[in-house]
Amino acid sequence: MTVHFIGAGPGAPDLLTLRGRDRIAGSPVCLYAGSLVPAALLDHCPPGARIVNTAPLSLDAIIGEIAAAHAQGQDVARLHSGDLSIWSAMGEQLRCLRARGIPFTITPGVPAFAAAAAALEAELTLPGVAQSVVLTRTSGRASAMPDAETLPAFAATGATLAIHLSIHALDRVVADLTPAYGADCPVAIVWRASWPDQRIIRATLATIVEAAAGGPDRTALILVGRVLNSEDFGETSLYATGYDRRFRPQSATPRFAESGE
Ligand SMILES: C[S@@+](CC[C@H](N)C(=O)[O-])C[C@H]1O[C@@H](n2cnc3c(N)ncnc32)[C@H](O)[C@@H]1O
Repeated sequence: MTVHFIGAGPGAPDLLTLRGRDRIAGSPVCLYAGSLVPAALLDHCPPGARIVNTAPLSLDAIIGEIAAAHAQGQDVARLHSGDLSIWSAMGEQLRCLRARGIPFTITPGVPAFAAAAAALEAELTLPGVAQSVVLTRTSGRASAMPDAETLPAFAATGATLAIHLSIHALDRVVADLTPAYGADCPVAIVWRASWPDQRIIRATLATIVEAAAGGPDRTALILVGRVLNSEDFGETSLYATGYDRRFRPQSATPRFAESGE
C-alpha cells in the first residue's frame, strides 16, 4: 500500500501530468483538496473508488482515512492543487506517514504561478531585467510569515514577485512594494489561471488597487516586476551566434569536449 501525493495542477483538467493521471487511476481511494482541485480530475478514479473531499477535514481525520486504507492494503491518491512543493500542507502529512511507516510517492504538478505566467504570455526572468522569481505570500490567519520574509525585503532585490494568498491584502502589498519598485512598476493579477473563468488585470502599482476593485477576493496571484511589460531586454547568450556550448560547438577547439550526454 502506498500514498501517492499528486500535484493536481492549477485548474485546467488537462494540466495534470500523465503520471498523476495514472496514479489516480490505480488507486482505489482518492483524497482531494476540494477547494481548488477540479472535480473533472476525479473522472480518472477507478470505478467504485472511495472519493473524499478533505476540505472540511482536520489533519487527524485525513490521516485516519489514510490509516484505514493502509489497514486494507489500498493505495491512496492524495490530490493537492498546483504543485506539492509550495503551500500544499504536504509536509505535515509526510511527517505523520513517516512516523507510521506508511510508504508514499510524490508526483509534481504545474504550479499556479506558471499557469499565471502562461496566461500573461510572460517570461518571468528576462536577461538584464530580473533573473529571480520570489514565490511568496503575506501573513494569513493560518500561517504567520517569518520575521525576515517581508515584502520590502524581497522588493529590495528587484526580483519578479509572485505573491500568493494575498489578494485580500492588495493595498498592503502595494504600500510595501512601491518604495522599492516605483509607482509605475507593472503589476498583473490573474484570478483562477487556466480555469474557464480565468480573469486578468494589468496595471501599475499606482493603479492596481482601483483597477482590481470589486474583483474576486480569492484564488488569485499578484505578479509584480519590470518583466511584465519589458520589451527592452538582452537576449540570452545561449542561442547567440558564435556562443560556444556543449550542444553547439562553434570552433575547431570547442570549449567542451565531446561527450555522450
Ligand atoms: C494554498 S495555495 C496553493 C498553491 C499551489 N500548491 C501551487 O503550486 O500553486 C493557494 C493560492 O495559490 C494561488 N492559486 C492557486 N491556484 C490558482 C490559480 N488557478 N490561479 C491563480 N492563483 C492560484 C492563489 O494565490 C491561492 O490563494
